[in-house]
Amino acid sequence: MDYKSYIAKKLNIEGVDENTIASFLEVPPTSDMGDFALPCFKLAKILRSSPVKIAEDLANGFAVDNVILSCSAVNGYLNFKINRNGFAKSVIAEVLSKGDLYGSDDIGSGKTICIDYSSVNIAKPFHIGHLSTTVIGGALCKILKFLGYKVVGINHLGDYGTQFGKLIVAFKKWSSKEAVIEGRLKELNRIYVKFHEEAKVDPSLDDEARRYFKLIEEGDKESNELFNLFKEITLNEVEKIYKMLNVSFDSYAGESFYNDKMAPVIEELKEKNLLKESDGASVVDLSEYDMPPCLILKSDGSSLYATRDIAAAEYRKTTYDFYKCLYVVAYQQNLHFKQVFKVLELMGKPWAKDLIHVAYGMVSLESGAMSTRSGNVILLEDVLNTAIEKAYGIIDEKNPALKDKEKIARAVGTGAVIFGALCNNKIKDIVFSYDRVLSFEGETCPYIQYTVARCNSVLNKFAYNGEFSAEDLNSEEYEVISTIARFSETVKSAAEKYEPSFIARFALDLATAFNKFYIDNKIGDENALIRNKRLAITKAVKSTLTNALTLLGIETVEQM
Ligand code: ARG
Repeated sequence: MDYKSYIAKKLNIEGVDENTIASFLEVPPTSDMGDFALPCFKLAKILRSSPVKIAEDLANGFAVDNVILSCSAVNGYLNFKINRNGFAKSVIAEVLSKGDLYGSDDIGSGKTICIDYSSVNIAKPFHIGHLSTTVIGGALCKILKFLGYKVVGINHLGDYGTQFGKLIVAFKKWSSKEAVIEGRLKELNRIYVKFHEEAKVDPSLDDEARRYFKLIEEGDKESNELFNLFKEITLNEVEKIYKMLNVSFDSYAGESFYNDKMAPVIEELKEKNLLKESDGASVVDLSEYDMPPCLILKSDGSSLYATRDIAAAEYRKTTYDFYKCLYVVAYQQNLHFKQVFKVLELMGKPWAKDLIHVAYGMVSLESGAMSTRSGNVILLEDVLNTAIEKAYGIIDEKNPALKDKEKIARAVGTGAVIFGALCNNKIKDIVFSYDRVLSFEGETCPYIQYTVARCNSVLNKFAYNGEFSAEDLNSEEYEVISTIARFSETVKSAAEKYEPSFIARFALDLATAFNKFYIDNKIGDENALIRNKRLAITKAVKSTLTNALTLLGIETVEQM
């Protein structure tokens, strides 16, 4: 039974359709506030009245029945109390029958969403600064797919720019094919750092680098071979990490892919009278919108990061006919995306409004800031491996006899890092700490994984007979069930606000509710009715927590 639709139908508000009302209904965070609530401020505009008045009028007109036991107006909210037995029954039945599809929906069917995320730079180290874009983007891909959207994950590779000329010079002077193949990204980074040191004393190196970059663009065979080697090494390396983080891409069309796709864009800008000359460069003036001009062509005729993004947006619209195109990129690029979106709007693209910059905050390590040029970076691979090692140490100490300790440590270590980047509102800057993310208590992934393992051990100990009697639910039991019931709306609002942290918080809430229930109640009660009721709840928790973690790209473990 769908309670939200049931309430919406009963409310029968003139001028607002039932689906809209159902989508406004919420499950309050704690069940003493009622079982469902309608925030009437969402109706204020449509009904041209104040939330308080709307709530009061609706409460007065509401006829209770044996499903909805009461309806009252409190501060602009309409609170409903329902027949909890019936509700609990329907929630448990739904989770147990839907299994790994519990929480999914088809609201996105027929719509495509492009997600530009991770977008690594070729030959540069894949460092902790890339963690957020990779895991937020990866989670959004999974969440949106779960809601029925077709998702195109795009890695907009940073594979264009003078740094490739620098690398070729450095390679020729201080490295070799063998050394690069052996040392991979670390070797590329080493020679890149060396280039910058040497160029400080010998500026002619920079001229040489520009010459090589030009050669790449002109299709010179040797330069392109080297460039492709650097690209291959980088991709091999990052793909290992993508595997650990459970993310994958449908397209690796990076910046250089647009080399031959910018001319028509520039033509169009000219035609539409949007290009202006400024010190020999071509720009789109955005002063009217309180922004600096968007640079399209440098005075030497070469294109810029923004030019490529404009061409890329156009290409994505033509190729995928997206409903939305998301860019999961740090807030440092706020201005860049505002400019690019504005230029596309000025070009008269009606879909410019569907381009969304999903901005997030910085991740730093306790030890402080990093810079690629000075070589002071913390590689994501090292962070993951350190977390796995530390997880192994903790597990080995807590439970030395455990089987498959390595596999479990991998799930716990990577899960801790992913969750650490996903559990806070994405715009917040975070300082990463191993001890904090790996703690088994508090707002961490190991805490949730441990809860799943705990459910599992209960389910292994007692056989569940498939029945669920909702009579006499106590408050801990009911709290767990009503928390489970919040999952679908949590997934939807995470998608709507591009905020995987909602799902992370939900998982923490559910784990907390379950552990309270577990400590205060004997699950293996002698009374079969009570025992099976509690086993059903345990099974539903395990399933829901697993779904939540899976959407975040995190694996669960059966034992810990
Ligand atoms: N490679 C860029 C960087 O590391 C991010 C690219 C984001 N995507 C885009 N379409 N601009 O800063």
